Amino acid sequence: MADDFILQVRGLSKRFGGNLAVAGVDLDVRRGETLAIIGPNGAGKTTFYNLLSGRMLPTQGQILFNGKDIAGLPPHVISRLGVSRSFQINNIFTEMSVRENVEVAVTARRGEGRRWANRAGANPPVRQEAAQLLEQLSLSHLAEQRAGTISYGDKRLVEIAVVLATQPQLVLLDEPTAGMTPDETGRVVELVQGLMRTGRYTFLITEHDMRVVFDLASRILVLHHGASLILDAPAVVRADPRVREAYLGHADAELGA
Ligand SMILES: Nc1ncnc2c1ncn2[C@@H]1O[C@H](COP(=O)(O)OP(=O)(O)O)[C@@H](O)[C@H]1O
Ligand SMILES: [Mg+2]
Repeated sequence: MADDFILQVRGLSKRFGGNLAVAGVDLDVRRGETLAIIGPNGAGKTTFYNLLSGRMLPTQGQILFNGKDIAGLPPHVISRLGVSRSFQINNIFTEMSVRENVEVAVTARRGEGRRWANRAGANPPVRQEAAQLLEQLSLSHLAEQRAGTISYGDKRLVEIAVVLATQPQLVLLDEPTAGMTPDETGRVVELVQGLMRTGRYTFLITEHDMRVVFDLASRILVLHHGASLILDAPAVVRADPRVREAYLGHADAELGA
């Protein structure tokens, strides 16, 4: 299908008192694409994710996911429909092993929470699925480590494994490489590229590291004061004088990668 849009956002707004944090955003996301959302601090990126994932109620507008308006639905319903979000902050159980973290997420998706609670370990299909995810993210060697003891970069990868355990169609990554070493950043980029090649996922990525954005995104949406400034191919966005202006002179440094 030429116009197979997984996500269609229409006139989406979020007001906090007198502050329009998201100001009438329209966005069509094609199934399977990786779209980056960038913009200066306070531009509305996180609020936009909060609206898509159901953590905040929109003031106005529509969020069509596979053609169905999900605006205002609770987060767990949106997650079950296939929208999953990683957080800027680690969101894993530090006392559990890496394997258990992923098994809990798989179990939750399969709706086997009660059985999980009653058993010493996860059932074989859950174990198998979790093992596959760990393999996919090159985390198998850390499976039995306590999640609190592994490196920051590895924790963020576990978090991505937990997101994928929900079997999402649309994955919202919030600054997936924030705070990472260059090596760890390279791993995340390769990993997301690998996931992109499976064709199973559509990614939205907010990210400050422009090298990551240019390595991954087929299109970039620039938010400025909550509104869409430009939505286009990376090379076009990089060359746009309005984008440089929005970054208040930091554009050369930030967009020059
Ligand atoms: N829970 C909130 N209550 C009030 N204002 C908020 C809240 N969350 C965000 N904002 C405001 O909305 C604007 C956009 O913030 P945010 O979405 O966090 O931007 P970004 O993620 O692009 O840095 C900012 O002016 C911020 O202060
Ligand atoms: Mg933010």
